[in-house]
Amino acid sequence: MFEAFYELSRSPFSRDVPPSELYESAILEETLGRLEYAAERQWFAVVTGDCGTGKTTTIRRFTEELDAAKFKVLYLSDSKLTPRHFYKGLLEQLGCESKFYRGDAKRQLHREIELMRGIHGL
Ligand SMILES: Nc1ncnc2c1ncn2[C@@H]1O[C@H](COP(=O)(O)OP(=O)(O)OP(=O)(O)O)[C@@H](O)[C@H]1O
Ligand SMILES: [Mg+2]
Repeated sequence: MFEAFYELSRSPFSRDVPPSELYESAILEETLGRLEYAAERQWFAVVTGDCGTGKTTTIRRFTEELDAAKFKVLYLSDSKLTPRHFYKGLLEQLGCESKFYRGDAKRQLHREIELMRGIHGL
C-alpha cells in the first residue's frame, strides 16, 4: 500500500533484495574490497556494525561475487555455537561425518581444508 503511495517498485528493507540491486554506498564498496582482500590471502575478517546497517546484506553480496571455482562458502548460523558444533557444522557442509571429540573434529576440518586447497585449489 505505501509502496504505491511512494511510487516504489518494491518494498524497501526486505531481506531478499537481489544483491545486484543494492544501493552502492561508499561503505559497501569499501567493505567488499576489504573482504576480497582478506579472502584472497586466507585471512580472518570480522564485520561489525549497528543493528540493521547491512552486515548480512554485504556478506550476501560478497559471497555472490566470489568465484565459485576458487572459493567455497560455508555458512553457520547459531547464537549458542559451541566449539564442537562449530567443527561439526562446517564438516557436515563439506559432506563429512564429524568425529565426536572436539580435538579430533578440529584436526579433521584442518585436513579437509588442506585437501581443498592442495588438490582442488579452493
Ligand atoms: N546496500 C543496500 N541497499 C539496499 N538495501 C539494503 C542495503 N543494505 C541493507 N539493506 C536493507 O537493510 C536491511 C537490513 O540489512 P541487514 O539485515 O543486512 O543488516 P544487519 O546489519 O545484518 O542487521 P542485524 O544487525 O540485525 O543482523 C536489509 O534487509 C536490506 O533490505
Ligand atoms: Mg544480520
